[in-house]
Amino acid sequence: MSIAYLNGEYLPLTEARISPLDRGFLFGDGLYEVIPSYGGKLVGFSAHIQRFQSGMQTIQLKHDWTEQQWREVVTSLIEQNGSGDLGVYIHISRGADTKRLHAFPDNVTPTVFLFTYELPPAPSADLAKAKGLRVVSSEDMRWQHCNIKTTSLLGNVLHYQQGFAKGVNETILFNQQQQLTEASSCNVFIVKNGVIKTPPLDNHLLPGITRYMLLDILRKDGSIEVQECAISMDQVRDADEVWLTSSSKDIAPVIELDGQPVADGKIGPMWLRAMQIYTQHKFSY
Ligand code: PDD
Repeated sequence: MSIAYLNGEYLPLTEARISPLDRGFLFGDGLYEVIPSYGGKLVGFSAHIQRFQSGMQTIQLKHDWTEQQWREVVTSLIEQNGSGDLGVYIHISRGADTKRLHAFPDNVTPTVFLFTYELPPAPSADLAKAKGLRVVSSEDMRWQHCNIKTTSLLGNVLHYQQGFAKGVNETILFNQQQQLTEASSCNVFIVKNGVIKTPPLDNHLLPGITRYMLLDILRKDGSIEVQECAISMDQVRDADEVWLTSSSKDIAPVIELDGQPVADGKIGPMWLRAMQIYTQHKFSY
């Protein structure tokens, strides 16, 4: 039975209850993280908690746990759920008021909710086992604060559904200038002539922890050039390789975009190299 954490208590997930006046429920007024943990080993924990806490500051959600306090709850939850390959979902909302008012209420206690779900085993740097993903593209119709990992995910949900309805794995997004932002639940990388590229951080995309770790690991390794630069959709269509990154997907190769193969439609050699380097170092974050 899956064990969750809700407001100070560990309990079976199916028994967790919140008020319908919770601002997370009424307004999507909250933040979340998904942290991967393989065999009890967390990946990128500090970076995830730092992004979470910085999001709280941005939306003025007051909550005073230290990174160590988050770590204790997360570690205990992982143990209580069998320490397998797990995604740890962490959620904070501004809390439940006694009325529905848009303005931030005084003196409400934030709702803190965590649960875990099974992840597939850690993806390995193995061409024979890797699965190439298919994606479609769409103009990014979300808001101007995509850098905040908010639970207000309707824009992302609608974009994800666009791809899902077409039977593909993801929807990658571009702005009005036809420049790549990210995907509905992942960051996007392309490879051209041996150089790895991803859009620079701004308010139109989430500062993904997998993106950060991959860039950091590749720069420290130094054997492949990496660039954070504006990428047009023409460049994406003309890329040698396209990858998606996220805490649940690691680095996932894309083999088809809008019904056309990416390059020759096979998983590329740079994906394999990047995965080899990334896999060696990811548990040290
Ligand atoms: N999604 N961009 C968006 C819009 C995302 O929702 C995510 C993560 C990412 C990648 O971020 P990270 O590498 O920190 O996971 C980029 C999570 C996994 C989710 O919503 O389930």
